[in-house]
Amino acid sequence: MQAELERRRQMGNLRILKTREGLIDFASNDYLGLARSEALKQRVIEKWSAHPGTPSHFGSTGSRLLTGNSAYVHRLEDHIATFHGYGAGLLFNCGYMANCGLLGAMTTEEDVLFFDAHIHASMREGIRLGKAPSLPFRHQCLDHLEQRLKKFLVKGRRFICIESLYSTDGTLAPLKEIYQLAESYQAHLIVDEAHAVGVFGPEGKGLVFREGLAGKIFAQVVTFGKALGIFGAIVLGDGALKQALVNFARPYIYTTALPLPCLLGIEATYALFPPLVKERKQLARLIQTAKLSESPIVSWPVSGNGAATDLVKKLATEGFDVRALLSPTVQRGKECLRICLHAFNEQEDLRRLITLLEENGR
Ligand SMILES: Cc1ncc(COP(=O)(O)O)c(C=O)c1O
Repeated sequence: MQAELERRRQMGNLRILKTREGLIDFASNDYLGLARSEALKQRVIEKWSAHPGTPSHFGSTGSRLLTGNSAYVHRLEDHIATFHGYGAGLLFNCGYMANCGLLGAMTTEEDVLFFDAHIHASMREGIRLGKAPSLPFRHQCLDHLEQRLKKFLVKGRRFICIESLYSTDGTLAPLKEIYQLAESYQAHLIVDEAHAVGVFGPEGKGLVFREGLAGKIFAQVVTFGKALGIFGAIVLGDGALKQALVNFARPYIYTTALPLPCLLGIEATYALFPPLVKERKQLARLIQTAKLSESPIVSWPVSGNGAATDLVKKLATEGFDVRALLSPTVQRGKECLRICLHAFNEQEDLRRLITLLEENGR
């Protein structure tokens, strides 16, 4: 292990837990500022004192299949599923577990799974846990996906895994086209909406909803720890999918259910983020100012772990909190700064940041 750690250090990608305070946030996933809002905190505190309908226990006391279930959780799941236009939803403790649970449970040896080469580590992990052989297709490449669909005919089912907004480079998936391909080739589409919900679509319902595909997709994953400012995740689909997950998704079955503070936070954010129209407009304005991405995630290429880390340090000395994506998280040579825009960022700060980046060259 020590040798492995030393190798990492030499490659310039040794992971270290850091705290950075007092810098302007261009790094977190708190796109709407909800995580730091008084509104979210206050709403949870108000609900806290055991309003009728909330479970009385502070901790959940067990897994959902044992003592960690309540009528309150069922109502919350139904509410979120209906909001996003689905028949059913199942809460998971976080997005990582949702993707592992869903993808790990869904496939058999007779199936095949195609995935965009840039999907998140949690989807990759889920694919690894599942039984089906899997093949990547080039990032955002419809032709390559179609080639895969034409070539790989199997006895079982075919799945396609994508993100609606890619967390690494901030690009939006051509959802309608991918949905049409999935339909034409009778494939099951799975969409991770981790970074899109809250930010895009009417009332922040996400890109799947915006594209008119809500309820039509086999499974959608929504996480609550990014624009929604809290923690946890839900898998949306139909009742049959929910029942399958309750029976076969190990990261759901064998873990203690979310405790009351998280559930109250989830309920609170679903009351608070839909009306945040002003914040979404402010975010859209910042995206326009930056002219670097179609979403709040901007990828600024800086080749090499050393160069990327040096630039992060330099920006910190100028007061900016920006983080890098280093290899092996991204391919070697494709290292970049991942700049996140937030409704609370000032236009002037963004301009100053872009000037600094440009001075340092791409
Ligand atoms: C695209 C994507 N999916 C899933 C996850 C995992 O979500 P969570 O942080 O809730 O575990 C992340 C988190 O970084 C993500 O970026």
